[in-house]
Amino acid sequence: MTVTIVGSQLGDEGKGGVVDLYGDAADVVARYQGGDNAGHTVVHDGEKYKLSLVPSGAVRGKIGVLGNGCVVNPETLFDEIDTLRERGLEPDVRVSERAHVILPYHRALDGIEEEEKEDLAAGTTKRGIGPTYEDKAGRRGVRVGDLLDPDTLRERLEYVVPQKKALAEEVFDKETGEEFDIDHLYETYREYGERLAEEGMTVDCGTFLQNRIDAGDNVMLEGAQGTSLDIDHGVYPYVTSSNPTAGGATVGTGLGPTVIGDGEVIGIVKAYLSRVGTGPLPTELGGVEGQTPDYDAADGAGDGAGADEEALATAIRDEGGEYGTVTGRPRRVGWLDMPMLRHAARANGFTGLAVNHIDVLSGLDTVEVGHSYEFDGEEIFTMPPTTEQWGRCEATFKSFDGWPDVDWTAVAEDGYEAIPENARTYLEYISDELDAPIYAVGVGPGREETVVVENPYE
Ligand code: GDP
Ligand code: IMO
Ligand code: MG
Repeated sequence: MTVTIVGSQLGDEGKGGVVDLYGDAADVVARYQGGDNAGHTVVHDGEKYKLSLVPSGAVRGKIGVLGNGCVVNPETLFDEIDTLRERGLEPDVRVSERAHVILPYHRALDGIEEEEKEDLAAGTTKRGIGPTYEDKAGRRGVRVGDLLDPDTLRERLEYVVPQKKALAEEVFDKETGEEFDIDHLYETYREYGERLAEEGMTVDCGTFLQNRIDAGDNVMLEGAQGTSLDIDHGVYPYVTSSNPTAGGATVGTGLGPTVIGDGEVIGIVKAYLSRVGTGPLPTELGGVEGQTPDYDAADGAGDGAGADEEALATAIRDEGGEYGTVTGRPRRVGWLDMPMLRHAARANGFTGLAVNHIDVLSGLDTVEVGHSYEFDGEEIFTMPPTTEQWGRCEATFKSFDGWPDVDWTAVAEDGYEAIPENARTYLEYISDELDAPIYAVGVGPGREETVVVENPYE
C-alpha cells in the first residue's frame, strides 16, 4: 500500500520527521515533486540530517526514489549522497528518467528574475526550480534520461542554451559565464549521466513502484513544500512551481490515482504557522524584513503588528528553531490558520493528521487560532481563490487556554492521554474542523518525541 505525506500549510511542517517515523514500515520512499528547494530534517540517534533532495527514508536504509515530477540538480544529488556516505550511511537512490534536470542556467535565471520581479517575487530558494518547470512545460527541458544519451543531450542543449543566454543578456542585461556555455554544460552533464548509469540509479518510476507494490512492498510518498505553496492551490504567485498536493503524488510518480487513493493521505500540520518567503499572511505575528509585506523597520513589525506580537513571534521563532533549513532565513511566524487548513483538507482528502510542534507553544497563557476570515464584510471559512483577496482577509481569532511545558519525552512514551488536557482540546478542535483523525502528535524534533496514535501501515 501507499502512504502519502503532504504538507498542509506553507512547508516546514515537519514532514521529514513523519516520513522517518512511519517510514520504518515502508520499503521504498519516493519524492513526487520539487527539488532541492526542500529541506527535510530527520533526527536519528541524536544526529541531525538535513536533506534537500535525497528522500528522507534514506537515513534508515530505505530505497529512495526521485519521481518524474521532481526536478533534479545532479550536483546537489551527488553531494548529498557523498555526504551521507561520509557519515556512514549507504543511501540507495533511484531517479526517474522522466524527471527534469536543473541546469546552471536555471539557477542563474531564478536569481535574476527574483531581483527583477520586486513585489511579485516569491522569495524563492534560488535553486532554479521555477525556470526548470517552465522549460518542462515549454517542452524545451532536459530530462534525466537525456543525460544518458549524449547525442540527445547535445541536441537539447543546442536548442535551448542560446535562448537562455539571450534572455539573460538581452532581456535582463546580465553578463553570462560558463553556466550558459553549451560545451561546458555538455561535458559536465554527460559525466553526471555516466555516474547515474554506472551506479545503476535511473528507473522508470511508475513501473518500478508498481512492481514493488505488486510484490507486497509498502511505499511512502514524501511530499515537499505544502498545500499553500502549490502552483494551482496555493497563494499564487508566491508559490513554488509544482504540485505538493496529493494529486501530485499520482502525476509525479506514475502510480494511478486509485493506487494513491486506496492508501492513506496524511496531512502534516504545524501547530502554528511558519513561512519563508513573501506574500500576505493573515495570522502573522510580527514580521520579517524583506519577507513581510509593508514591513515597518521603525517598529520592527509587519502591517499593524505591535511590539507584543513581535516579542511573541521572536519567542516562537527561537523556541521552534524557525530558520530556513535550506537558506537559513528567519521564518515568518503566525497563529494557526484554519481556513488554510480547511482548504488543504479538501484539496488533499486527508485520511489522517500529524500535528507537530505542540511543545513549542507550551507555556503561553493563551493560544490563538485564526478560526475564520472576515472578507468584504462577510465571514468565510476557507481561502478565497486569489491572493489579492486573501490579502484583504482579516482573521477572526478563537482563543484556547495554554498548556504547560512538561517532560515531553515522557508524554510520548505514555501516549495521547498524557498530553496536557488543554493541548488535547486544541488538537481535537483541529481534528473536528478538518474531519480527519489525529494519527500522531509531534512534541519535539526527535523521533521518540512523537505521540503515535495510529500507524497507517497497520
Ligand atoms: P519539513 O520541511 O516539513 O520536513 O520540515 P523542516 O525539517 O524544514 O522543519 C521542521 C523543523 O522542526 C525541524 O528542525 C524538525 O527537526 C523540527 N520538528 C519537527 N517536529 C517537531 C516537533 O513536534 N517539535 C519541535 N520542537 N520540533 C519539531
Ligand atoms: P519543505 O519541503 C518552505 C518557498 C520559498 C518561496 C516559494 C518558491 O522544506 O517544506 P522555490 O525555490 O520553490 O521556487 O520558492 O516557496 N519554499 C519553501 N518554503 N519549505 C519548503 O520546502 C519550501 N520550498 C520552497 O521560500 O517562497
Ligand atoms: Mg523544510
